[in-house]
Amino acid sequence: MDNQILENSATHFHNKDELEVLLQAFKISHNFDYPLFSNIDITLHKKETIAIIGSSGCGKSTLLNILCSLLKPNSGEVFYKNKEIFTLPHKKLLELRRDIFGIIFQAHYLFRGFSAKENLQIAELLNNKSIDYELIKTLKIDHIMEQGIGELSGGQQQRLSIARILTKKPKIIFADEPTGNLDKQTANEVMSVLFDYVKKENAGMILVTHEDDLANLCDKIYKIDNLILKRVK
Ligand SMILES: Nc1ncnc2c1ncn2[C@@H]1O[C@H](COP(=O)(O)OP(=O)(O)O)[C@@H](O)[C@H]1O
Ligand SMILES: [Mg+2]
Repeated sequence: MDNQILENSATHFHNKDELEVLLQAFKISHNFDYPLFSNIDITLHKKETIAIIGSSGCGKSTLLNILCSLLKPNSGEVFYKNKEIFTLPHKKLLELRRDIFGIIFQAHYLFRGFSAKENLQIAELLNNKSIDYELIKTLKIDHIMEQGIGELSGGQQQRLSIARILTKKPKIIFADEPTGNLDKQTANEVMSVLFDYVKKENAGMILVTHEDDLANLCDKIYKIDNLILKRVK
């Protein structure tokens, strides 16, 4: 009887954990010269991975920029923990980007003139976290730690920037075509690092991609089509 109750409550808490909302956007609309999308609603839960797909130029990167706080939409709201991010005081918004959000773009923002290891140490200092050397090994960049950024290949820089972002232990990963400049096998390895991270750290991920195989690895898939966001998985 007691065991039964314990089991039930364990299941209950497990479900509750998975259903916890990390990020929620309501009625997002944006246009540059012409309307890109309107009335987009999307919710990201703990441990969840969401892919955003759609044809080139449909607004995937723009939507991701909005969700990760870098671009204020023409209208709509984005909530992190019941706080609307675009109405936060500037200092709080910067803290959110620094501590909670991990933003991975194709163009990687590494500090040139520093070594690979020094780039990771900067993340350690800024976020008060320590480098995960297992992760460095898994990403196959352990042997390039002493090299300067300029000496690294595009793929190595990309993996280093992913390592730097994961070092700060973000709650939400926003990734825009993160494996676009990697060969297929390295791309798969990098993606499995990101998927493992999300499950292990109770984080969430929103991934923009034009690759269906990659999108299919996510729990949910949304497509921007004809100005609206449709759930396709
Ligand atoms: N900062 C900007 N100013 C003006 N137009 C932009 C800006 N960013 C993107 N666009 C335009 O908005 C459209 C959608 O771009 P983007 O979100 O990058 O699409 P996707 O990532 O789906 O390929 C494109 O036509 C692009 O040229
Ligand atoms: Mg894009």
